[in-house]
Amino acid sequence: MQIIAGSGAPKLGRDVAVRMNSEVVEFETRRFPDGERYVKLNSDCRGKIVGVIQSTYKDPDELLMEFVMLADAAHGAGAAKVIGIFPYLAYLRQDARFHQGEALSSRVFARMIKSSDISKLVAVDPHLHRIHDLNQLFRIPTTNLSAMPDLAAYVSQHFKLTDPIVVAPDEEASQWASQVASQLKTEYIIAKKVRLGDASVEISFEGPRMNHRDVVIVDDIVSTGGTVSKMAVGLRKLGVGRIIVLVTHGLFTPGAYHRIRTSGVDEVVATDSVPNEYSFVSVAPLIAKNLLP
Ligand code: R5P
Repeated sequence: MQIIAGSGAPKLGRDVAVRMNSEVVEFETRRFPDGERYVKLNSDCRGKIVGVIQSTYKDPDELLMEFVMLADAAHGAGAAKVIGIFPYLAYLRQDARFHQGEALSSRVFARMIKSSDISKLVAVDPHLHRIHDLNQLFRIPTTNLSAMPDLAAYVSQHFKLTDPIVVAPDEEASQWASQVASQLKTEYIIAKKVRLGDASVEISFEGPRMNHRDVVIVDDIVSTGGTVSKMAVGLRKLGVGRIIVLVTHGLFTPGAYHRIRTSGVDEVVATDSVPNEYSFVSVAPLIAKNLLP
């Protein structure tokens, strides 16, 4: 298998290739004077299975276009099969038309990825809420990997927790909370989250005693930090001990670090699906293990 590490995953893509003992196909990309993108692979892909790794954060539209062109270039260079690997797959949160006249972004994005003729799609903790299965969107074989077991293992190895409890911000995160709670041999609860706007949420907690307990918040994405900081403020009022946030995709948009740090969160542990200062866990082993025959 050959690996192409797109501009959204230059290091992670190489790390996956190293673990698989695979060749990295280098490519050139630049812009024509009119702003159009140019992509050229520097190796032959004849007869090979080619994995294009692209994490679509920060500038998802740009990176999507690059992905589609890289996949096309691999087909043109003779690849037998092209697999799309998305450590972070963007646009899944707009999975419905919430207001009259809105675009159904998740479907549009999926259609564009599919147009690249990939034979399979692999994603890490894709945001599946109203859509329960990536196959519903992509209608090609898809694999949904989860980084939560590795994040939970990191917490077990690096923190000595007092009477821990795992908290999911919403129903959709309960799958991860249940996984982490079982690894930490404890219980979990699901908070009540109501989204008021792009960067505004209301959160409340019901259930077991929380005071003096260390709390592990789990979520797939931290974007503005609004969700976890609101949770931390609410949890502090309940007299909890340390607050540790486990997140697969730390998007940390401007202001998020400050918002989280000032809300009472003690530690953040994220993966390198989106590289950031909290990327303590790599998803390279998880992806490589899945791709190896
Ligand atoms: C939404 O359902 C996701 O799972 C995350 O909770 C959300 O994307 C976090 O966004 P923010 O950090 O902006 O609150």
